[in-house]
Amino acid sequence: MDTQSFTITVTSLDSPLKNTLTVTDCFNQKGNDKLSAKDKIPVIQTSDNDRLETVPHSYTCYRFTDPSIPAKCLIATPELIPDMAIVDPDFADSMPPEVRADSGMDAFTHAIESYVSSKSNDFSRGLSLQAITLIMKYLPSSFLERDPVAREHMHYAATLAGMAFSNSSNGICHSVAGIIGAAYHLTHGRANAIALPYVIRYNSPAVGGLYANVARAIGFKGGNQSEAVTDLIKKVNHLKKSLKVQNSYQQMGIPEDRFQSQLKEFVQRAYRLPATNWNPRKSTMEDLERLFQACYEGKGRLLQRSRK
Ligand SMILES: [Fe+2]
Repeated sequence: MDTQSFTITVTSLDSPLKNTLTVTDCFNQKGNDKLSAKDKIPVIQTSDNDRLETVPHSYTCYRFTDPSIPAKCLIATPELIPDMAIVDPDFADSMPPEVRADSGMDAFTHAIESYVSSKSNDFSRGLSLQAITLIMKYLPSSFLERDPVAREHMHYAATLAGMAFSNSSNGICHSVAGIIGAAYHLTHGRANAIALPYVIRYNSPAVGGLYANVARAIGFKGGNQSEAVTDLIKKVNHLKKSLKVQNSYQQMGIPEDRFQSQLKEFVQRAYRLPATNWNPRKSTMEDLERLFQACYEGKGRLLQRSRK
């Protein structure tokens, strides 16, 4: 390998764009001398969340926050597909505990959302389920005990989850979390972790059977679908608690007056996101408003009035 010709992209804990590409580069694929035909892009994973190495189809996405709008933007271009990936848990070993928890919960959200996505398929669901079982088993000890075996499995599980959503999609949890995270500067994984149980509850009228499969894969023994979904939500909440993740955006200190004044704008933005379109349950603006409100207050019962 001629390392001189490589443009190194490290998906670091700060900006993945730092020292690599400008936004203009991403939109304007012509004339970018960093990405000529001779160049190769290796990706080195240094956390357990967004998996920029797992892109078997025609694009990859880089996130940045546009200071002029309170939202994260995705840039998709075939020019950003990595040529190789280094998935080595040693590169992620220095993650602080909070980052380990947040990035692990982001991977878990990828696995759950891709399993029920309207774009899921036999291949992606296999990857999703394996990631879910590994994360359920290893994330707490990876976080609490510095267990090297757990950390290794978590690093690989995050890649599996990335492969799963790259072959299907994420869903409405990523819509809500992306908007709230950008508006109030929450980490991506924490914003997802808070919303996930409410999203499972919201989606369950449409894909309760798939959630029941997940519940059974991680230990639920009963046969009743509704009990299985309840058990899954309970286990997700237990996982969050073990990682010291809050139950609501309100508990993260987001002021209520600010949230309420921006809520309509959040809903309109979420309604237009691709992840909302691929969510297994189709959503009205009213549904989305209730979901945001439930995630903000930490009250799943606010979702009960949602249509079927
Ligand atoms: Fe994510």
